[in-house]
Amino acid sequence: MTCPSHRYPAELIDVVHLTGGERVVIRPVLPQDRELLIRFFHDLSPAARCRRFLHPVNEPSLKMLRQFTQVDHATHVALIAEIFVDGRETVISEARYVRTVEASSAEVSISVAERWQRKGLAKLMLAKLEYGAAAAGVRRIVGETFADNEKMISFARRAGFVISDCVRGVVRLEKTLRLQEHEHPRAASA
Ligand SMILES: CC(C)(COP(=O)(O)OP(=O)(O)OC[C@H]1O[C@@H](n2cnc3c(N)ncnc32)[C@H](O)[C@@H]1OP(=O)(O)O)[C@@H](O)C(=O)NCCC(=O)NCCS
Repeated sequence: MTCPSHRYPAELIDVVHLTGGERVVIRPVLPQDRELLIRFFHDLSPAARCRRFLHPVNEPSLKMLRQFTQVDHATHVALIAEIFVDGRETVISEARYVRTVEASSAEVSISVAERWQRKGLAKLMLAKLEYGAAAAGVRRIVGETFADNEKMISFARRAGFVISDCVRGVVRLEKTLRLQEHEHPRAASA
């Protein structure tokens, strides 16, 4: 079943510059981004895909791709970051939150293509997601990652998440959002 679509959150569209100066467009996902996402996940290493999905994934299934691209922009908000290589769109990051049954909470997940890591992209994607989430009434964001995923744990800690104890190799990440802390990221960096 497909959820009814809400307004496309155009306020989340942005052009950002990574620490190396590279220009990247961040925007909410569209149904027609399916092929771009297939390529993005295909190009991740098997280990990175496993860390992203918390289990080994060769290629995302059609069902998963549908869930990832046909979002309702309300209970499920998804962003992609893209660059243009010879005029061709290439996705280099995806991040999303999905509201949990407790509507004031949302579960976040994020991945960045290996060669684009450590340039501040995940930080920019998360800031934008948090801005949208806080404005939409989300008060707590949570996530899960493997206890040995040092990059994610370091990233999450730096981003203000509290890391809980490890249960069966997985740790829980949790962060409280406060609306006033989430002014528009573009205004914050201007
Ligand atoms: C975790 C991940 C999203 C970080 O993305 P990124 O774009 O490289 O992160 P950023 O460049 O925004 O880094 C922000 C901060 O996170 C921390 N961090 C990021 N990568 C790190 C690394 N390799 N080692 C240590 N700290 C790291 C640092 O504190 C960094 O700030 P700094 O560069 O000023 O020191 C990325 O490594 C990734 O996609 N991993 C595979 C998928 C995954 O594990 N997803 C998590 C499960 S949902």
